[in-house]
Amino acid sequence: MSGPNYEQRRGRLLRRFREVGIDSLLVSSVSSVRYLTGFTGDSSWLFVSPGLTVILSDTRYETQLAAECPDVRAEIRDAGSTVVELAARTMRSAGVRQTGFEAEHLTWATHRALQVAVESASGGGLLPMTGLVERQREVKDRFELEQIREAIRIAERGFGVVRSSLRATQTETDIRYLLESSMRDFGGHGPAFEPIIGVGPTAALPHAHAGQRRVSEHPVLLIDWGATNAAGYRSDLTRVLITGKPTKQIERVYQTVLGAQRAAIAAIRPGARCADVDRIARGMIADAGFEKFFGHGLGHGFGLDIHESLRMSPLSNQEFEPGMVVTVEPGVYLPGKFGVRIEDDVLVTSDGCEVLTKVPREFEEAFVGVLA
Ligand code: GLY
Ligand code: MN
Ligand code: MN
Repeated sequence: MSGPNYEQRRGRLLRRFREVGIDSLLVSSVSSVRYLTGFTGDSSWLFVSPGLTVILSDTRYETQLAAECPDVRAEIRDAGSTVVELAARTMRSAGVRQTGFEAEHLTWATHRALQVAVESASGGGLLPMTGLVERQREVKDRFELEQIREAIRIAERGFGVVRSSLRATQTETDIRYLLESSMRDFGGHGPAFEPIIGVGPTAALPHAHAGQRRVSEHPVLLIDWGATNAAGYRSDLTRVLITGKPTKQIERVYQTVLGAQRAAIAAIRPGARCADVDRIARGMIADAGFEKFFGHGLGHGFGLDIHESLRMSPLSNQEFEPGMVVTVEPGVYLPGKFGVRIEDDVLVTSDGCEVLTKVPREFEEAFVGVLA
């Protein structure tokens, strides 16, 4: 496996400063700090400028920082000062004039405190930035793609265990726990998010919490799950299993969702607009009469976070580029009855895309014999 090149990532970020009107940046998003340095802790900000790169942290992380990112200078504060004061002092000693901050990751209160501290320390300016590091993170490097592929493999192996041991008496919560522990058995550091396990009417809630419904209560079992691997990268899949005799409506909904997903995936390539791909799937679901029952976006980027900034929805103004990874997850949810979502992870290649997830998704392949 190739290792991550943090210096190169920071170099790419620095090259964007002039175009957005800053000479330095305070990165406060935990996953962006990790992406740029390898540091896995929290509560720490990264100050990036052409002449000085420094992590602003506290004594809890002093030893960890030295081990995880020895190439980055660390300023460690004790309990008597705040990260805000440390940031203001760092800006002054770096002699910077216009520092960007991450508008989506700094609370209003912290921003106010930072402004006051900066004014009394140096008089430099603070400029809100939106999505600066996140946009860079949309295109994955080789190391990241290896990690994502591993997170997918772990998730798929965990699912295999669940699928082959399904019982009529199992509850959604039983399945959740088995899935989580199976993914750990295969090397996962944990689930990528709380697995969504829904039987029948629960499956009609797109982000349901697993509860006490039993597999035997309804032929539809929806499982939306993913793993986080050792390097912090995630996967995100959804499958519907048919655990009993399906009605005609279940089959129709399933085939509609699968057809929409297939058509959307076929349209993903560099230069394709995310909104157009969303429209393809949404149009097919509408043509089948289920327009009202598909309310969420078609997919999202993922990586260190389960939802990253790339979005496929009618509101998106983004285009695909090689190296982006995105979920494709149309769904139809019939309240009180059941829901079907099929979700795969797709890599944009130089001339199209590659579906990274391999769990079968044909309707015939969704049938599973359930033990009593
Ligand atoms: N598991 C959450 C999602 O599919 O976006
Ligand atoms: Mn999902
Ligand atoms: Mn998803």
